[in-house]
Amino acid sequence: MRIDKFLSNLKFGTRKEVKEQMKKGIVSVNGILVKDGSENINPETDIVYFDQEEIYYKNPITLMMNKPAGVVSANTDAFDQTVMDLLPEKYQRFDFNIAGRLDKDTEGMLILTTDGALLHKIISPNKDVYKSYYVKLDSPITSLKKLEEGVTINDGKDQPYLTKPAYSEIIDETTCILRISEGKFHQVKRMFESVGLNVVYLKRIAIGSLKLDSSLGLGEVTELSEKDILKIFEGI
Ligand code: URA
Repeated sequence: MRIDKFLSNLKFGTRKEVKEQMKKGIVSVNGILVKDGSENINPETDIVYFDQEEIYYKNPITLMMNKPAGVVSANTDAFDQTVMDLLPEKYQRFDFNIAGRLDKDTEGMLILTTDGALLHKIISPNKDVYKSYYVKLDSPITSLKKLEEGVTINDGKDQPYLTKPAYSEIIDETTCILRISEGKFHQVKRMFESVGLNVVYLKRIAIGSLKLDSSLGLGEVTELSEKDILKIFEGI
């Protein structure tokens, strides 16, 4: 790939701006100064420095974040901090997509990826990727049978929607785990509302059989390996 294109893709400026910068002698490839923007590099193997910053590059990149409450699952927002604002600097130069958003007040596993095909595969409704949520409710749970069989909720566009089969596990009087394969607007909250319960705390703890990494602090990310990614499509 041409180095001016590589640097421009990573938001160092337009191709023209990058070429101008390069003329100043601030870019090196494998320790050798490169002033010509038309030079070709191998982004996967060459070590590129821009103004004394070693450039981190990988394609694609998929991250798991432990999303804290209070930040929005969006690329930009006029008012709130976004999950993208939490990314370490080395990832800020990439264009990540969010594979299944969480509400502002929801915590837990969020997958961010630069891989368009993977994004599609995770969020596609007919792939039935199960998401597991740890749910705390405002009053005691009697039975979750109705939720497992399907309940009618508002789909977020003011249309009634019958939810697909879900799986649940009661932990204590007011806490349970719910596994669903869909992601309608406020789906978990709306499913519980339909049986007269209010969600007071919600955390996504797994996607498929990939569990939230317990070593991740709130707002932290870790890169997923190919093996981790396969787990997304296994189990429920
Ligand atoms: N269901 C919800 O209600 N909120 C979320 O953030 C995720 C699932």
